[in-house]
Amino acid sequence: MRTQVGIVGAGPAGLLLGRLLWLQGIESIVIETRSREYVESRVRAGVLEQGTVDILNEAGVGERMRRQGLVHHGIELSFRGRRHRVNMHELTGGRAITVYGQTEVVKDLIGARLDAGAEIFFEVDDVSVHGFDGESPKIRFRWAGEEREITCDFIAGCDGSHGVCRESIPEGALTVYERTYPFGWLGVLAESKPPSEELIYCHHERGFALFSMRSPQITRLYVQCDPHEEISTWPDDRIWGELETRLDAGGDLALKEGPIIQKGVTPMRSFVVEPMQYGRMFLAGDAAHIVPPTGAKGLNLAAADVRSLSRAFGDYYRAGKTEMLERYSQICLRRVWRAEHFSWWMTSLLHRFPDATPFQRRIQLAELEYVANSRAAATALAENYVGLPFTE
Ligand code: APR
Ligand code: PHB
Repeated sequence: MRTQVGIVGAGPAGLLLGRLLWLQGIESIVIETRSREYVESRVRAGVLEQGTVDILNEAGVGERMRRQGLVHHGIELSFRGRRHRVNMHELTGGRAITVYGQTEVVKDLIGARLDAGAEIFFEVDDVSVHGFDGESPKIRFRWAGEEREITCDFIAGCDGSHGVCRESIPEGALTVYERTYPFGWLGVLAESKPPSEELIYCHHERGFALFSMRSPQITRLYVQCDPHEEISTWPDDRIWGELETRLDAGGDLALKEGPIIQKGVTPMRSFVVEPMQYGRMFLAGDAAHIVPPTGAKGLNLAAADVRSLSRAFGDYYRAGKTEMLERYSQICLRRVWRAEHFSWWMTSLLHRFPDATPFQRRIQLAELEYVANSRAAATALAENYVGLPFTE
């Protein structure tokens, strides 16, 4: 098989890249180890920045998002038994976020790809990438029991944090920057009405909690937990009890219990590789960087990466220009590091760190008070949360 861009991974990064290339008449083939059903049902993030919404609309895959997405103008911070609203819309000159599950974005992109007749192979095995330090990279894999090979001009490594693309780059060519946090998030999806119309980020002495949603009937909830915790130690009663305690809402909010339809523990990590390219292979999304989910940036960074990458491929195929491809990493990493800082900051602000001294806990509360009471501090949170504009 031959194509222009071989895309490894059918998460948001790989699928959106494929779509943005297709719109420019650039051919691609996407390969994915999991089944279509699996990737379409995997519960992940749910907050889209305005810029991500714009990309999806421009890519012609925003119809369902416009109908079902929930536009939010603010978020709430809860601490010391009180809630404080951050009016993001007002603080950012009218920007907003849209709550629409990553799962739904993935479904929309797969649907559009299949409608367009563009190639995608699910349930591939034994993926390996070759020759990307030369002119003619190759992707090998097994599909339906047969060995396959794609020869392409470029490889896009969109295969997430445990993929093969990054691992195939020669040792020493990449620098890794990493931090792990001494906690994880236990996330649940429940059939119950969310306690509030907006997201509530809770700082509590028992640990962080987040009240989010997927629709007016489905709530998405998270509690800070031990990163190595067995899910069996969290029966539903314990989860609802912790959520209730950490919401600590002074009585004006009711947490409605309902059937829990999914649960899982996510470890918290910050991770960046530099550069995000090697020869004719380009990394995008979680393959190149991870953020802890507190800033809701993972999916948005993946979208920003592939926006730049698709423009760089556009320049190359339309005009033979390689300048943007050469600067791909530099363009992305500015935004990546901004988001890394913001996600680290939100995480540090809101979680209970097991080794924090009483002094550090007081400092954390002082910072929360400042964000809640200073327009300048709240603006810094708001402009990062809604997402900074694209510069190129
Ligand atoms: N070959 C083919 N596909 C692979 C391989 C491989 N060797 N290894 C992994 N994959 C697939 C995974 O099954 C997954 O579907 O690559 C895809 C990567 O998708 P994501 O993990 O969703 O990563 P990305 O597209 O970069 O999206 C980033 O996802 O994890 C969230 O919070 C993160 O919201 C962010 C977003
Ligand atoms: C979610 O709804 O899944 C969600 C929302 C905000 C976050 C992280 C996850 O910061």
